[in-house]
Amino acid sequence: MVAFVSTVAFEGIEAKPVDVQVQVAPGLPAFTLVGLGDKAVNEARERVRAALVASGLALPPKRITINLAPADLPKEGSHYDLPIALGLMAAIGALPPDALAGYTVLGELALDGTISRVAGVLPAAIAANGRGHGLICPAADGPEAAWASADLEILAPTSLVQLVNHFKGTQLMARPRPGLRDVTSDTLDLRDVKGQETAKRALEIAAAGGHNLIMVGPPGAGKSMLAARLPSILPPMSPPELLELAMIRSVAGDLAGGALSDRRPFRAPHHSASMAALVGGGIRPRPGEIALAHNGVLFLDELPEFQPNVLDALRQPLETGNVSVARANHRITYPARFQLIAAMNPCKCGKAGEPGHACRRGARCADDYHARLSGPLLDRIDLHIQVGAVTAADLLLPAPSEGSREVAARVAAARDAQRARFATLGLDARTNAEASSSAIEAAAAPDAAGTRLLHDAAIAMRLSARGYHRVLKVARTIADLDGSEKVGRPHLAEALSYRTLVDKVALAA
Ligand SMILES: Nc1ncnc2c1ncn2[C@@H]1O[C@H](COP(=O)(O)OP(=O)(O)O)[C@@H](O)[C@H]1O
Ligand SMILES: [Mg+2]
Repeated sequence: MVAFVSTVAFEGIEAKPVDVQVQVAPGLPAFTLVGLGDKAVNEARERVRAALVASGLALPPKRITINLAPADLPKEGSHYDLPIALGLMAAIGALPPDALAGYTVLGELALDGTISRVAGVLPAAIAANGRGHGLICPAADGPEAAWASADLEILAPTSLVQLVNHFKGTQLMARPRPGLRDVTSDTLDLRDVKGQETAKRALEIAAAGGHNLIMVGPPGAGKSMLAARLPSILPPMSPPELLELAMIRSVAGDLAGGALSDRRPFRAPHHSASMAALVGGGIRPRPGEIALAHNGVLFLDELPEFQPNVLDALRQPLETGNVSVARANHRITYPARFQLIAAMNPCKCGKAGEPGHACRRGARCADDYHARLSGPLLDRIDLHIQVGAVTAADLLLPAPSEGSREVAARVAAARDAQRARFATLGLDARTNAEASSSAIEAAAAPDAAGTRLLHDAAIAMRLSARGYHRVLKVARTIADLDGSEKVGRPHLAEALSYRTLVDKVALAA
């Protein structure tokens, strides 16, 4: 007889339906698994055999064939163990034949018959719900699955035996509850940063308009400190945004306990991070740091120290808002709409430009360091600022009266203004940074004095077309923070001041 069990294959964060077909037929004893599985899928045979034996079920000495359909869809991961085991149990009569109808099943088996956690349960649960199925998943992933829908039927057993008892009716399982929101109270506050008013202002503008930002300054100036406090002034994620990120984190296996939070993510990979860690991929397809920063902040400290190919790989996601990873015979795409915050020292020794310091290699020290950054990458960063060293006198000052809460309120108001404006103009953008060039021209037409300033600056600073639109976007955000409907001369003047580094790199190149 042939038993059928539904499961899923992951393509990015999408869960595609897969049918596990199990046939137990007379013939020489054999156990074959077909259907374009990777190594983890093929090893399922050994885990399934051992888990069934441990649960008191021996495999019959017959010809067992498992097919994962559709046969041309690549299948990766260890979550096929459970559907294969359940299919076999149905085929040999250890489960009622119709018990598994209407369920999507995923889970990994341990040799003793317990069910271990797997990645991707949330997208699988959402897919199951969409097909009108219930879900059978590992107990440890139940709280995550419960986020998919309040009506989704979920069985989250710890072992094969527990599931069999449930179907027999001897020990019914309760539905898991959604994981509690992780309310890690926020200890990072902008109030901790003393002095650095210009940098704080730039951070506020970056938060308000969703702009990318690069900070250049000597070690110990507080660049990392400032960046880590950006999430505390960003608006919380909306429920759809939260769900999008949760799907990515689920596929990455980063959602232990199923706890979700509406706080935007802050990812700060080290500069030695490999391409696979940053962009995703590797032996097992996992979203990388830039996908895990979706709807939040990607902080790259010591930007010029990152491998050049890694920095190049950032350009496409910065443009399109998603990242593609090449697999053996297909490509997968993850959403990756993040805000890039970068920090760097002014030169290799870290102190160029400080009073009394002279680099041993003279001006080349700073020039060579800057030349590691490509023009096209810097071109995608709207705000460039210098962060000066803090003095002991600055640190002795009392804490500033204004903290993250006050700044976050202004940021939220500016974001509301942007959303409302783009909606009335019928444009598809949420922040000024996201707006297309035509959208920003419509939304940020400067007044007469502003136009004159822009005209003069375009000539004096040799603004490129992209540079011109970038200045408009930043000026629009500054005007929004100001509560001004028109973009005026002061807004443009401030926006023009955040462009120092492009010119420096152009000189160094
Ligand atoms: N503006 C500041 N206000 C208060 N403390 C600061 C400031 N700048 C630096 N510090 C202190 O110096 C440490 C190093 O700062 P950090 O942000 O790592 O500097 P950077 O990233 O620029 O090298 C911080 O942990 C903090 O204790
Ligand atoms: Mg630092």
